[in-house]
Amino acid sequence: MIYTVTLNPAVDKQITVPTVSLGTVLRASAVQSDPGGKGFNVSRALKMQDVPSCALGFVGGATGDFLVTALEELGIKTDFVRVAEPTRTNVSVVSETEGPHLKVNEAGPTIDANALDLFLSKVRDLAQAGDWWVLAGSLPPGVPTDIYTNLTAVLSDAGANVVVDTSGSALKSCIDAKPALIKPNHHEAAALLERSIDTLSDAAEAALQLHNGGIPYVVISMGAEGAVLATNGVAHIAEAPEIVERNPIGAGDSMVAGLVNKLSAQLPAADALAWGIATGAMSASLDGTAFGSSMQIAELVKQVELEHYGEE
Ligand SMILES: Nc1ncnc2c1ncn2[C@@H]1O[C@H](COP(=O)(O)OP(=O)(O)OP(=O)(O)O)[C@@H](O)[C@H]1O
Ligand SMILES: [Mg+2]
Repeated sequence: MIYTVTLNPAVDKQITVPTVSLGTVLRASAVQSDPGGKGFNVSRALKMQDVPSCALGFVGGATGDFLVTALEELGIKTDFVRVAEPTRTNVSVVSETEGPHLKVNEAGPTIDANALDLFLSKVRDLAQAGDWWVLAGSLPPGVPTDIYTNLTAVLSDAGANVVVDTSGSALKSCIDAKPALIKPNHHEAAALLERSIDTLSDAAEAALQLHNGGIPYVVISMGAEGAVLATNGVAHIAEAPEIVERNPIGAGDSMVAGLVNKLSAQLPAADALAWGIATGAMSASLDGTAFGSSMQIAELVKQVELEHYGEE
């Protein structure tokens, strides 16, 4: 089974108006609400590739109910811990044409010690050898910054494969617990290593550095440039296929889904990287936070050519 963990989920609400202007009442011409959160994105992208997963995290109130229903309607299993305060809503106000938009993110409910304990014991109960767990995104108020480190340790001890996709101190802290796979983008990896990463070769060196520190799979993504994967002492490098970019937000989450799909099916690492790159590119070519089907990704992956750097 593949589990995705979204500790700080949101209802992403997009309100479309004719033009965005301040100091006046704007009339919505369309309203769209979607489940928001990086772990959910991974589950949604996996579902588009016909791969089942179960979404975990904290939800509360009517907004939390909306998330459960929306995910289950998409065919994604959920197993949440309920909290008293409602799940946050992140609002974007966008204009019908191009132009300025507003985005307001709430902080999200504070997670108390009781809810955190319930979540940790749920993870301990579910932890099984061979499963894949994706821990993705920012942390809600009340959750200690080393939560991903603890979860990685608990899950790895049980023999599960842990993927961490986060940034800043949560990423820095989890490195010591040696997750199976990390996928920072080049900005996140540069901040972690305190070095600059401007080219795919820089990314390959940085990925090998992190891999040599004991992380079996290190992917560093570079948006339209492509990505690298260091594993078994080798860096695999590939440029991204050419697409017309529509919305690149969530491309990284898609890439994680593509990587986990193929690695959990025990495909060779290089094939998983190519599929992950094509999955990310497909998602970047779609409007909104949307994900490609296996057929669409299979078309794009034909354009991905890998190079290898280091001993095979
Ligand atoms: N404009 C693009 N053209 C082609 N491929 C793209 C483009 N943007 C993203 N991709 C693909 O998606 C992968 C991941 O993108 P990126 O490096 O932007 O992730 P990210 O910064 O983690 O994104 P996010 O966290 O918003 O999901 C890239 O390695 C690439 O394969
Ligand atoms: Mg990312």
